[in-house]
Amino acid sequence: MDFKLTEEQLAVRDAARDFANNVLLPEVTDRDKHARFPTEEVKQLGELGFLGMMVDPKYDGGGMDTVSYVLAMEEISKVDASTAVVMSVCNSLVAWGFERFGSEDQKEKYLKPLAGGKITGAFCLSEPEAGSDATSQTTTAIDMGDHYLLNGTKNWITNGGTAGVYIVMAQTDREKGHRGINALILEPGMEGFIVGEKEDKMGIRGSDTHTLLFNDVKVPKANRIGEEGFGFKFAMQTLGGGRIGIASQALGIASGALELAIKYSKERKTFGKEIYKHQAIAFKLADMATKVEAARVMCLKAATLKDQGKDFELAASMAKLYASTIAQEVTSEAVQIHGGYGYVREYHVERMMRDAKITQIYEGTSEIQKIVISRAILK
Ligand code: CAA
Ligand code: FAD
Repeated sequence: MDFKLTEEQLAVRDAARDFANNVLLPEVTDRDKHARFPTEEVKQLGELGFLGMMVDPKYDGGGMDTVSYVLAMEEISKVDASTAVVMSVCNSLVAWGFERFGSEDQKEKYLKPLAGGKITGAFCLSEPEAGSDATSQTTTAIDMGDHYLLNGTKNWITNGGTAGVYIVMAQTDREKGHRGINALILEPGMEGFIVGEKEDKMGIRGSDTHTLLFNDVKVPKANRIGEEGFGFKFAMQTLGGGRIGIASQALGIASGALELAIKYSKERKTFGKEIYKHQAIAFKLADMATKVEAARVMCLKAATLKDQGKDFELAASMAKLYASTIAQEVTSEAVQIHGGYGYVREYHVERMMRDAKITQIYEGTSEIQKIVISRAILK
């Protein structure tokens, strides 16, 4: 597999790096401390085309490939994993879901403003009692002829309080099990659609995570994505692509922590020399760099397979499993290399360690990735 990057891909990476360093970095610590959503920063990200990177230009997207998306996600995540998850959900769950499975009307109405950066989107699958076990969801969408009547609760929804469009999975025909689930499009402000309190989280504190409640929300039939009963497959196939985004987020958190650890090891002196000259520290850095490089190759492989139109879901799950595991390890070692300074906000690495944890949980926990991977290799 050839990972030589094109001029265009390198330009995207550089633009994302500049944006991260110039726009995201200055207030990232403050946003984390006060759990403040990056409203202005996300607006600018949208204007630069980073929320609909892979969408066809005819729907106002960037027309870029998935490799460019991975490169951009790594750069943004190196500095601000909270903004990165907004970007990931918009690009690889909501925009990709609309572009691949939406009707032309739905693309005109929702994909264009999303890809053009005018609104963000939310993908609503998880419930209080159904996360990993996604087919056991209890939100109902009763068929009322010209509309569905939506009732229930979705949990942990990223962009939940700020999105301009929501894709909600709900059960229409319980007897059909997962084949009775529909994917429905909601807009904020629909009668009976209530956004609950924002979650107070351990990491990615700048991101906007909410419970959503639906009380007799009337959703027009035209707002269903795909055929009746396609909702669960819609969710699974969309998540396949989404996992490349979260793998790249984990990669970025790890590579950002590695860069900071290398820099610090050249500045800090103990026992008369810079700490990188102690072999114990140099070896830690060697292990960290090797893990980051392996994760990067896995993300690029999954992205390349997707760009080539090949089956990429196994590679995406493997990339997410591995990158999220090493993000935990690398950020923890980065804190260790910083000593006491690593334990305070000013040096960023403690935030990165907190942010890294979520990549092992959302878009399918590590245990769920192992189910997906083992089923694929054993079938
Ligand atoms: N593509 C297409 N169809 C798929 C599929 C895929 N990748 N995976 C499963 N399906 C289909 C199956 O073919 C099956 O359909 P048929 O019976 O018609 O063949 C149906 O879906 C059910 O599949 P399973 O029997 O395999 O279902 P399961 O109950 O064993 O669960 C699972 C499978 C992989 C564990 C799934 O439930 C899962 O992925 N759970 C994790 C949920 C998740 O990732 N949530 C993330 C929420 S979004 C998020 O988190 C965003 C964010 O943080 C930012
Ligand atoms: P559970 O499914 O209850 O799992 C608990 C533990 O049991 C985990 O360790 C799990 O791996 C393990 N486990 C469960 N089943 C098995 C099994 N069969 N074998 C082995 N181990 C198993 N969801 C959305 O739909 N949209 C979003 O935008 C979104 N954003 C999120 C943002 C944040 C900050 C968070 C925290 C979550 C978000 N989620 C979102 C939800 C996320 O996808 C779920 O939390 C995740 O899928 C796990 O579900 P759960 O929390 O119910 O854990």
